[in-house]
Amino acid sequence: MITTKEQNIPYTTDEMLKDYTEYYQFHDSDSPLEARAFLRSALLNSISKKLEKQSKVTILDMGGGKQIFEQEAGCDKSFAKILNRVSWVTIDISAIPRDKMLATSVAEPTQANGAELPFGSNIFDIIFSSMAIDFMPRSSFSEVKRVIKNDGELLINFHHPSLIKAAGMAMPEALKKLHSARKNLYHKKNNGSSKTLQALEKLTKAEIQYKDITFLLNNFPAHVFSDSDEIFNFLMNHFSDSQIEVSEHQKSLVKNNSWFFAQVLLSTD
Ligand SMILES: C[S@@+](CC[C@H](N)C(=O)[O-])C[C@H]1O[C@@H](n2cnc3c(N)ncnc32)[C@H](O)[C@@H]1O
Repeated sequence: MITTKEQNIPYTTDEMLKDYTEYYQFHDSDSPLEARAFLRSALLNSISKKLEKQSKVTILDMGGGKQIFEQEAGCDKSFAKILNRVSWVTIDISAIPRDKMLATSVAEPTQANGAELPFGSNIFDIIFSSMAIDFMPRSSFSEVKRVIKNDGELLINFHHPSLIKAAGMAMPEALKKLHSARKNLYHKKNNGSSKTLQALEKLTKAEIQYKDITFLLNNFPAHVFSDSDEIFNFLMNHFSDSQIEVSEHQKSLVKNNSWFFAQVLLSTD
């Protein structure tokens, strides 16, 4: 039997909801630009192939966050040409007000847990996820299997363990910045000048950076798959008759910013 890390996951869906809801008050995305660009190109390719055989395509973004992926797709000329033939929905656990979503004209957002999708069975042609489904309960893959069509396609960017390593390396610097911003503010605490406001802004930024890194280090190591083989075996367990490919990618300049990409072509029998 293939074992997963689910038993070790200390981080509950409620905590994920709370933390990501707060996170999206300060950030629009939580994935590398290059990884999203890579996934966008794979998605465009898959949609175009489906559209050769059918007039419309239904797609689901699992863990779409604030819809950064959809915003970028909406600005992409090749996507713009086909969007009128795509019925697109995004789900995410976090509570993001609709007017704070970035691309409601591209995709319909729904607040939902990936492990309890509010959709009927066999309705999506393509399901994709940009660095999100691996943070959900592993049973979300069974939900994906339920809602995807029998000849559907799955495109997933997974986190890489290098992310955790990079966060560990960034921690001392974040702490240093926080300490110096606090010290700076302490010295200026009694004057309401623009310098004090600047120091306050510096402190807020340093605190956000510190919280982001702590959040990652404390909660995500248990969610992240360690290598391509582990992802392949896990996917095989859920989608046994399918064609599965898993590859490893790296952002060109930043050595520690890598990701895994998986493509699953479900069986057409
Ligand atoms: C690393 S972020 C990626 C967000 C977005 N796809 C992007 O590329 O910026 C992971 C996302 O997964 C969402 N998430 C985590 N657990 C979830 C769950 N159980 N159900 C639905 N969404 C979840 C988080 O709220 C967060 O938006």
